[in-house]
Amino acid sequence: MSNIKAAIAGVQGYVPDFVLSNKDLEVMVNTNDEWIKSRTGIQERRILKEEGKATSDMGAAAVKGLLEKTDTSAGDIELIICATVTPDMQFPDTANLIAYKTGCKNAFTFDINAACSGFLFALTTGAKFIESGTYKKVIVVGADMMSSILDYSDRSTCILFGDGCGAVLLEPAEEGFGIMDSILKSDAEGMQYLHMKAGGSLKPASHETVDAKEHYVFQNGRPVFKAAVSGMAKVVNDVMAKNNLTADDVAWMVPHQANLRIIEAVSRMGDFPIEKVMVNIHKYGNTTAGTIPLCLWEWENQLKKGDNIILTAFGGGYTWGATWVKWAY
Ligand code: UT7
Repeated sequence: MSNIKAAIAGVQGYVPDFVLSNKDLEVMVNTNDEWIKSRTGIQERRILKEEGKATSDMGAAAVKGLLEKTDTSAGDIELIICATVTPDMQFPDTANLIAYKTGCKNAFTFDINAACSGFLFALTTGAKFIESGTYKKVIVVGADMMSSILDYSDRSTCILFGDGCGAVLLEPAEEGFGIMDSILKSDAEGMQYLHMKAGGSLKPASHETVDAKEHYVFQNGRPVFKAAVSGMAKVVNDVMAKNNLTADDVAWMVPHQANLRIIEAVSRMGDFPIEKVMVNIHKYGNTTAGTIPLCLWEWENQLKKGDNIILTAFGGGYTWGATWVKWAY
């Protein structure tokens, strides 16, 4: 087996300027700042408001910044994978549009749909193209414009999500650094609790589906909450045990940002002091595939070469997973 690993050689995030605060939501639905903060930890989220802009525009902004900061020319990128559940359109894939908008003319592209776990699924997949020696420059994007699929009259979902994205550049690593291991899981038993009812081949868009508000996120939060805590705690434990890591060996835990109470429970179960856990849910809410790369971007200056980082996510599908990264710069 090859010893090549895929290192994260750079990370860049993008969030839209427009801030939607809990106070703003108080005038839209029957909710209040106190409920949202105490039940979720969210204070505000970003919304992409500009006419004609979509997920690929956020992705392109992140990729442009990434190419610039890593001094990489667009033509050298060989593959772009975009994790998203809010593609610009059913087809073509959003990664293709990102490549077009950033001049990555030599890249082959595809999207991955694994909801909140999308970034981990895409990161692990992208890493394989490096580990196999096939490619030397791969970009993985996690991007979602959740505001495009939210019912802003449903208080149980519209308060939770925001728009945003992050992108990483993967390159072959010196031995011992990079994406070290992942445990990824899928189980459609959980589909009933979190999905979009219409717009796919099962129930194509019609006047009826629009009238019934079936093109929005549907979530029954409580079962998802429980499954998220136990699912993430288990895979974090499993990936660490498999690689003989203890919480003391880990510099940072990077959990998907869906609910501060979930993050705290998973951290407690893994014995991670909260100071070692990246949390920015108060500013951005749940950006689905965007949360993990947005955290890495915000903490980039605090990361040191050799840091063991555990990424973990849980989301619609169900999908979930944990990835061990050894930071490479
Ligand atoms: O990222 C993808 C994976 N998703 C998740 O991980 C989300 C997991 N679930 C959750 O984070 C939580 O379940 C929620 C934040 C979605 C909801 O919190 P909860 O503590 O589970 O509340 P609940 O849905 O059980 O509702 C409790 C009460 C209900 O009122 P009654 O029936 O007790 O009278 C709701 O109607 O809170 C009410 N409620 C609200 N009240 C004020 C629900 N949403 C709101 C709201 N403002 N926005």
